Amino acid sequence: MIHPNSEKNPHLPFGDQQNALFYGKDILSVNQFDRNGLEYIFGVAHEMREMVSRVGSFDLLKGKILANLFYEPSTRTSSSFIAAMERLGGSVISINEVQYSSVSKGESLPDTIRTLECYADVIVLRHPETGASSLAAQYAKKPVINAGDGVGEHPTQALLDLYTILEELGKVDGVTVTLLGDLKYGRTVHSLARLLSLFGVRINYVSPGILKMPSEVIETLEAQNIEQMEFETLDEVLPSTDVLYVTRVQKERFDDIDAYESVKSAYVITPDTMKAARDDMILMHPLPRVGEISREVDDDPRAAYFRQMEYGLYVRMALLAMVLGKA
Ligand code: NCD
Repeated sequence: MIHPNSEKNPHLPFGDQQNALFYGKDILSVNQFDRNGLEYIFGVAHEMREMVSRVGSFDLLKGKILANLFYEPSTRTSSSFIAAMERLGGSVISINEVQYSSVSKGESLPDTIRTLECYADVIVLRHPETGASSLAAQYAKKPVINAGDGVGEHPTQALLDLYTILEELGKVDGVTVTLLGDLKYGRTVHSLARLLSLFGVRINYVSPGILKMPSEVIETLEAQNIEQMEFETLDEVLPSTDVLYVTRVQKERFDDIDAYESVKSAYVITPDTMKAARDDMILMHPLPRVGEISREVDDDPRAAYFRQMEYGLYVRMALLAMVLGKA
């Protein structure tokens, strides 16, 4: 369930109760969801998948406009939100070169947001500062969706990651998930670990000493009695891993380039790594990868990272339809 944010879009449309819970709401953090809410989102995502395979595009959001505002580079998140909106019959104002917008003249985020909501029905925001989406949401009357706020959260990625696990393994409860790589700066793993804590999972964190999962995430999960262990090498946990989630070392977040150089190649998944992994495990990555999974692994049926991107389209279609009251 998403926390009510009653001042936005107070006129709820007719429809079922769950739909009303998401209508007009911001999506800022995975903390907003419970298992019922997730079940609903994934049910809608499943319907979206069927519709896309049957008819490609349809007119559910005809006449609706999305403002896609990206202050940081993006390929998948930005284009999947555009594809999601367009497959639902809506249209998109895309601002991904903020240097060519009034941001380069010194316009503040609240002013940019107040501008875009004059023209759009929903705003997707990616920004280098943690908390930027929450700030934007305070000023916006229209729903704001966090598409990554610095090293903070990436809730829509975590939703699609969880949906991938569910679709690929058929369950989340009882699964052992190993998060590997840059756990300090990687916002996708911050959101995913929190979301996984709604399920009976075991989580292994594998990272270099300087890139460990932030203690606040570990403490939050501890309070929810999630079994968590930290490691610096993969060998010990690989044989018991059901989901190996690999991340890129986030070069852009380092102040000290020597520190980056010292950890950038800490882990590389190769066909040999996969030999030691279970036959029924999956290998995930939010992408982009920059060498941490060798391309020779791509043809392994357990390599789920390309399918993961496709699941993202359906989850983002579901989210857009829900916040715009049409799911
Ligand atoms: C991730 C991000 O932007 O946080 N990419 C994505 O959204 N799929 C991961 C990354 O940049 O490493």
